[in-house]
Amino acid sequence: MKHLLSTYDLGRADAVRILDVAEEMATVGTREIKKLPALRGRTVATLFFEDSTRTRISFEAAAKRLSADVINFAAKGSSVSKGESLKDTAQTLEAIGAEAVVIRHGASGAAARLASTDWISSAVINAGDGTHEHPTQALLDAFTLRQHWAKVQGVDPLGTGLDGMSVVIVGDVLHSRVARSNLWLLKTLGADVTFVAPPTLLPIGADAWPCTINYDLDDALAAGPDAVMMLRVQAERMNAAYFPSTAEYSRRWGFDDARLAALDARGLENTIILHPGPMNRGLEISSGAADSSRAVVLQQVSNGVAVRMAVLYLLLSGDH
Ligand code: CP
Repeated sequence: MKHLLSTYDLGRADAVRILDVAEEMATVGTREIKKLPALRGRTVATLFFEDSTRTRISFEAAAKRLSADVINFAAKGSSVSKGESLKDTAQTLEAIGAEAVVIRHGASGAAARLASTDWISSAVINAGDGTHEHPTQALLDAFTLRQHWAKVQGVDPLGTGLDGMSVVIVGDVLHSRVARSNLWLLKTLGADVTFVAPPTLLPIGADAWPCTINYDLDDALAAGPDAVMMLRVQAERMNAAYFPSTAEYSRRWGFDDARLAALDARGLENTIILHPGPMNRGLEISSGAADSSRAVVLQQVSNGVAVRMAVLYLLLSGDH
């Protein structure tokens, strides 16, 4: 594996290996000195053409914990405004010493383009490309799910997948690279996936995907899933009215306090709630649900550092 561009083409053995290495990396975060010398003298560039809080900071923290040097590039305030191309920007970063380029771009396929041309020889990691994929988000979600699933089953997570786990993914699937990357990875790891969304927020062709489609959130929750992943309503990608009103969306597809109480009433004590962030509190998730003991949103963020350490280590050390 030279690049990490998608989960669609990530095999089970490679995925489990990344999650297992991430388990080791997670222990570094619990030490007094949270550093390993593994990538000392290596340089990682983060190349962000779209806004980010979690992913960019998480990659930077991951690289620094491995003792790598980090170059941060944000398109805002850069020479992109003067017309500089992706090729010239990437080549500039490589000329400064980058050996791995972590790229987020609004265009689906931008990371693959960078990896498939001879513009640069660096490892390319997709940190989110348009509505296509966000593989490290799916890996950190799988890591979080695996820790929970192993605990429920009373087993060691190392070497395991998500066989038999049921995961419901809810919301704006149409615009979500997180939903796509999660679907491919969760299926590879053996989970059962259900998408719940308004018909207008499901892409054409989703009925051929390896998942169940349900338009009714209460019906999907009544089946007693092991995990519920709420997706952000991506208003910035919407150029039309996909639902009548935010109140209607929240009532039918939001994880609100009533749905939280319904999980308790059904005795579903092991059902956890995930959200990739950033959250629209009061729209796709209520504050009561986001701050509840079922929510693992901040665990997802912490686990993201360990997972990204594993990815950087495996790509840059050649140990795979
Ligand atoms: N989950 C996620 O990608 O968050 P950011 O946009 O803040 O990086």
